[in-house]
Amino acid sequence: MDFKYLQNTPLYKAFSELGKRIFLPDGIFYWSGRAKKEAEIIGTIGSAFGYERDFVDGGGSDWLPCYLNEISEYSNMDIKDIVPYASIGGLNETREVWKNWVIKKSQYDEIKEKDLIKNLEKLITTPMITAGVTNGIFQCSSLFLNPGEFIIAPNKRWGNYDNIIKKFIGAKIKSFTFFKDQNINLESLEIAINEVAQIQDKIIIILNFPNNPTGYVPSEEEGKEIVSLLQQQQQNHKKPIVVIVDDAYEPYVYTSHSMKRSLFYDLIELEEDIIPIKLDGITKELLMYGGRIGFITLGLKSSWINNDQELEILKNEIANKLEGFTRATVSNCNHFYQALTQKLFQEKGINQILTSRMKVKDMLKQRYEKINEELAKIEDPNISIDPNSGGFFLFLNLNPDKIKATEFGDHLLRKYKVGVIPIEKLDEQINGIRIAYCSIDLPKIPELIKRIKLALNDF
Ligand SMILES: Cc1ncc(COP(=O)(O)O)c(C=O)c1O
Repeated sequence: MDFKYLQNTPLYKAFSELGKRIFLPDGIFYWSGRAKKEAEIIGTIGSAFGYERDFVDGGGSDWLPCYLNEISEYSNMDIKDIVPYASIGGLNETREVWKNWVIKKSQYDEIKEKDLIKNLEKLITTPMITAGVTNGIFQCSSLFLNPGEFIIAPNKRWGNYDNIIKKFIGAKIKSFTFFKDQNINLESLEIAINEVAQIQDKIIIILNFPNNPTGYVPSEEEGKEIVSLLQQQQQNHKKPIVVIVDDAYEPYVYTSHSMKRSLFYDLIELEEDIIPIKLDGITKELLMYGGRIGFITLGLKSSWINNDQELEILKNEIANKLEGFTRATVSNCNHFYQALTQKLFQEKGINQILTSRMKVKDMLKQRYEKINEELAKIEDPNISIDPNSGGFFLFLNLNPDKIKATEFGDHLLRKYKVGVIPIEKLDEQINGIRIAYCSIDLPKIPELIKRIKLALNDF
């Protein structure tokens, strides 16, 4: 594959060696595509097909992928939506459905902001399907990071970032201190960017709002400050800034002062070479954790190309790179859940999905309010709660001179039968417990906080 247009973009300049090297060769796909159009007898694809009557008692005369008759007892979805391989980048219809969903989530007004919608539609790639958001994080980290190179992330982050970036890829994380006085610590982010800019020709950042483990979502004001800091930094350093936006918990925002949509949308509007990559998925967003379907959507810049035709070629070149990753790792993703997602959107429609999900969101919002209300009643100089207004968790900091988080977690579990996740990374200034209130029924929350209070008292 020739990467004629991609090669001249700042995106390509930010790629790792692997990112530059990987591609999806024509091979089987070239020949099977041609065979579909040109052949009378097709023997290209490695999956068994037959007339249904020849492999199922009472089967019909359709030429189908062979399947075990017993599986049809467990689902009334068409067998063609269950057993065949999905295409490497994902089912085209599902990708299109999700692209429309990404556009819808911009919350642009369909009448008043038509031009912004058009621009967004033009500049985003068609989402590439991954095996969950995790696989998207893995693919993007691999695409940009060579072993030894830095990615910037807040010190409080999902622990799996460290597994992927440090242990798997052998790259490094430049942490910035997430909060100062209950606000995002932009000074610390700025320092991290300046440090990385001294040693790398690219700046790669991963951000996740609502955040795991803290539940933090920037306020509208903070969102604007993050964007203008990135703009300033790009202008100063003149190096591409790639922002991986982990939107795993995107819809779960509980207060009106928080940002109402993903940072992705503000970043795509910028002219600077600040390249946003949106990672989202059905996992939390559609409450199908085990479905393992995620999406990678890149935001491109119109300054990279001269016309729409070049833009289309560029998008195909990027798609080929990502398909190369998928092919080399998981080959392709779960067909059943891709088909299910597509049907949900096409047959039930967005409004019905949102109405059903609102029940869950309202339930979580009540728990969010209750747990914060109860925690606020504890007067203890050895604890503090990180700012939180969304997601599934909150984070209670413990004074490391008095209380070690893992010992406290153990004490809480043994004596008070309360399970939480202690996180003790003193070199990153983290010592506290993550409480997943998403999985605690509302009436149990006062009791939970009572026990935490007792545990603090007698620790
Ligand atoms: C911040 C964050 N990103 C990504 C994921 C992973 O999502 P998935 O299950 O779709 O791989 C999680 C799951 O816990 C998460 O907390």
